[in-house]
Amino acid sequence: MSHVKQNQVSDLDNSEMPSFIRLKHPNRDETTLYPMDFEQKELDDAVRYEAEDSDIFVCSYPKCGTTWLQNIVWLIVHNGEPIPDKIRYSMPMLEFDGATAVLKIDNKVYPRIIKCHLPQSWIPYNKNAKYLNITRNPKDSLISYFYHCKGFKEHYGCPDLKFDALFDLYTYGEVEFGSYFDHVSGWYAKRDDPNVLFLLYEDLKRDIKNQVLKVGKFLGDQYEKALLANNGKLLDTVVELSSLKSMKSQEHKWTMSARTDQQPFIRKGQIGDWKNHLSEEQAAAIDKRIKEMGDATGWSGLWDDLNKVN
Ligand code: A3P
Repeated sequence: MSHVKQNQVSDLDNSEMPSFIRLKHPNRDETTLYPMDFEQKELDDAVRYEAEDSDIFVCSYPKCGTTWLQNIVWLIVHNGEPIPDKIRYSMPMLEFDGATAVLKIDNKVYPRIIKCHLPQSWIPYNKNAKYLNITRNPKDSLISYFYHCKGFKEHYGCPDLKFDALFDLYTYGEVEFGSYFDHVSGWYAKRDDPNVLFLLYEDLKRDIKNQVLKVGKFLGDQYEKALLANNGKLLDTVVELSSLKSMKSQEHKWTMSARTDQQPFIRKGQIGDWKNHLSEEQAAAIDKRIKEMGDATGWSGLWDDLNKVN
């Protein structure tokens, strides 16, 4: 398997951009990129997982609010009890931990909650399982990804990471799990399936209570009822324990290893941080990609209201 350095996209030095390995779907003629310390066997083990009826998948492109949504789903399913330890021990990441780790999670009392960044069509499918997808304006997810790579430089082999190099890779989909734009197109096409809930990070930011209720309703009547019982006590607990402040205070739970830059994993948690980072040309280049890809598949207007207010 080749170890891909993406210097065809930019003429910057290799140490200035993250590196990835290209892995192949075990049964199809399709590939995706993984962080370089992974191997084909990890992807093979992930794809062989057979989704069970009770499974809940939290799916996303990286840096779109996955951890936030995982925490919300966990709190709803576990009646407001916080995640006990590192999040990956309770909610494995399918593409990294594989079927082996997922199967170790007991699902007799509570359903398994499985995190997954793989492209939509690669995720093990069961018509009775539930699939939540969260997406976010790509300009903000790119900035979040930049800080993510900065914080895990060894993992990505880029001690001198430069934003402009990452910008090129991201815009053309040469980063882990492929193109943001393909990813969103895949999930948007499924948004009306009864076992899919398509969510926007920005909606969670603007109206968390109703979004938590929406998640509860999607997960099942019993969860919705529990959220609303006792004057919405559980709903208030979920909102409180999934707030930016509360999640910042539980920082040790969200990552397996410490970041090299001492920055928190739960960084700014804002809409529009891209304005502090992108040049006009870069913002326009992403808008162009949104239009090209989103017009073809129907999602290009997802953030139009934000463009008007911000
Ligand atoms: P920023 O880097 O823009 O702050 P993921 O979990 O998919 O990796 O996404 C991480 C992003 O979600 C980070 O964005 C992080 O701060 C944000 N996030 C995590 N928890 C949040 C919360 N409770 N409220 C708002 N944003 C949150």
